[in-house]
Amino acid sequence: MKTVLNFTYIVYLVLCTTIKGSDGFNNAFDPCVHIIDELSHINISSALEDKKTLSDTDSNFTYYFSGCRDFKPSDLNLAGINSTKPVSLLKVWPAPYEEGNKTINSHNCTELGKAENIKWHKEGSMYQLVYNISNMTTLPTVKLLCDNEPIPFIKVLDTKSNQLIFASQRVCIITTHHGLSGGSIFLILLLVFLTIYLVGGGLVLYFIRGARGVEVIPNVEFWRNLPSLVKDGLIFLLAGCKPTFVSTSESYDRI
Ligand SMILES: *[C@@H]1O[C@H](CO)[C@@H](O)[C@H](O)[C@H]1NC(C)=O
Ligand SMILES: *[C@@H]1O[C@H](CO)[C@@H](O)[C@H](O)[C@H]1NC(C)=O
Ligand SMILES: *[C@@H]1O[C@H](CO)[C@@H](O)[C@H](O)[C@H]1NC(C)=O
Ligand SMILES: *[C@@H]1O[C@H](CO)[C@@H](O)[C@H](O)[C@H]1NC(C)=O
Ligand SMILES: *[C@@H]1O[C@H](CO)[C@@H](O)[C@H](O)[C@H]1NC(C)=O
Ligand SMILES: *[C@@H]1O[C@H](CO)[C@@H](O)[C@H](O)[C@H]1NC(C)=O
Ligand SMILES: *[C@@H]1O[C@H](CO)[C@@H](O)[C@H](O)[C@H]1NC(C)=O
Repeated sequence: MKTVLNFTYIVYLVLCTTIKGSDGFNNAFDPCVHIIDELSHINISSALEDKKTLSDTDSNFTYYFSGCRDFKPSDLNLAGINSTKPVSLLKVWPAPYEEGNKTINSHNCTELGKAENIKWHKEGSMYQLVYNISNMTTLPTVKLLCDNEPIPFIKVLDTKSNQLIFASQRVCIITTHHGLSGGSIFLILLLVFLTIYLVGGGLVLYFIRGARGVEVIPNVEFWRNLPSLVKDGLIFLLAGCKPTFVSTSESYDRI
């Protein structure tokens, strides 16, 4: 009897997992793609379109952003910026210096993060890229704005905490409808499993145990108890799939 109960418990648990979906799953290996659930994701691979970097200036700070692919600061061709270490977000400011009587035009910079530092976060309805740099107190953040403007751009919000907005048509949530959903695959597998279970189990019971009549149905006790088990299951589902529910004494008492 206990195994019968365990069997239903597993079926309902699988059902709950299927209904709840795979929300929160984050593809840790590709900073360009954020999987929201099995039907929707964001792909910022080509969100800058044909540009290598986007930039915006606020007070004396210019930010250079290259999305989920790194760029080399030396490619900016700015005096004083000659690092070839790959970065995805760079903060640059003028740093002129005196040499003899002349003032030499130069720049200084801080690396705010590489593509591999990107962590996807959701704040309100907005997704954002947070550069998880362990030696920064406030983490540099690029908020993604799904925008109809044909040309992607960035806008500096705050130079102290390094907050930016990145607007592009290609940071929007992509919803796919084609293919089988996890739910359909589950139902097909369930059907296949039930067929094997009924036919295989029936043959075993018929030929090996010598069962006849209604006893040929595997776990016939279970099927007899099905109506009450379905009721249990519905209560379990409506109670928010709390795993503790099914093992309460009430469920066992009935059997
Ligand atoms: C993301 O988009 C790029 C091109 O825009 C494509 O090559 C890549 O396969 C896409 N990745 C996913 C996971 O959809
Ligand atoms: C920008 O830099 C110049 C000198 O390089 C300075 O005089 C000015 O105050 C700075 N502006 C801000 C907003 O920091
Ligand atoms: C980079 O620039 C600094 C001065 O800003 C200079 O001392 C250094 O030699 C340069 N490095 C290279 C590889 O050009
Ligand atoms: C610096 O300025 C002085 C005059 O103010 C001039 O005589 C001298 O040639 C200058 N030196 C350089 C390196 O430009
Ligand atoms: C760049 O700025 C940092 C402070 O942010 C400073 O310590 C460093 O000396 C500066 N480098 C140059 C070449 O001016
Ligand atoms: C940033 O990385 C540290 C470990 O390096 C981790 O403990 C922390 O949770 C991360 N923060 C975010 C917002 O991902
Ligand atoms: C953080 O550490 C990196 C190297 O790990 C260094 O390049 C960067 O300047 C540091 N930033 C700050 C604000 O200390």
